[in-house]
Amino acid sequence: DDIRVAPQGSAAKGIPRPVILIGPPGAGKGTQAKKVAALYGVPHLSTGDMFRDHFRRGTELGVRAKAFMDRGELVPDEIVVAMIEQRIAEPDCAKGFILDGFPRTVAQAEALDQMLSRAGFLEPLVIHVKLDPALILRRLTGRRMCKVGGEIYNIYDCPPKTPDRCDRDGGELVQRDDDREEVIRERLAAYHEYTEPVIAYYKRRDLVEDLDGSGAPEVVTHALFAVIDRKEERGSHL
Ligand code: AP5
Repeated sequence: DDIRVAPQGSAAKGIPRPVILIGPPGAGKGTQAKKVAALYGVPHLSTGDMFRDHFRRGTELGVRAKAFMDRGELVPDEIVVAMIEQRIAEPDCAKGFILDGFPRTVAQAEALDQMLSRAGFLEPLVIHVKLDPALILRRLTGRRMCKVGGEIYNIYDCPPKTPDRCDRDGGELVQRDDDREEVIRERLAAYHEYTEPVIAYYKRRDLVEDLDGSGAPEVVTHALFAVIDRKEERGSHL
């Protein structure tokens, strides 16, 4: 599917500039990051998924993070930064990577700048996925995730072929604990307070590209690949 919608010239060849997807909860960051990772052959680093994975495995980090997540609050910077720093140092990140849900505070963005320059990466390409607030609630309350592989569905807009079962591996589809309305409100408030300033931080360096997240998933994917291909071509010749 991914290859069919990809613009000419895209191949699983890595990306010279790390790509950051930033946007409100439910904007489609996870859905789109998986497509980029598959097409360009780079890892998808989602801090939310990493925390959920830690929690499933019962680690201390997972239990600590879950308490913040269930309240819709951000996990403290030092925990997130240490986790990402370790992950980026792994060999599969050498050809580039796509970040989803990180950085979410200006302090995280500053820490990432240092990590990237120490490791010799180019400045990131920051893609701001925009979504009309009216759509956010529908996207989040309708979301279901596969317990096995993390595949993302939406009971209204992207339903599985068989109710409550993943198309890919038949895994059970579940609702995230933080997709309840009262938690969603807190997550949106945290986004407004801490994450919007991150967009401004990168805008000052002219690193941000806007992406309309309201179209059908394939339409958004196509626009996203086009931005990356255009920017990466230029980025790789810097
Ligand atoms: P995280 O897991 O990152 O959640 P989020 O940023 O709130 O984003 P979501 O995963 O809710 O949305 P998404 O944009 O990925 O949308 P999706 O593709 O799933 O973080 C969770 C928590 O972890 C945070 O609250 C915080 O506590 C903690 N945390 C994580 N990172 C942290 C950090 N760096 N610092 C501190 N704390 C951190 O799509 C949503 C739905 O819409 C799905 O149902 C999907 O099927 C559907 N959909 C997607 N695209 C479309 C489309 N184009 N048309 C129709 N439906 C669509």
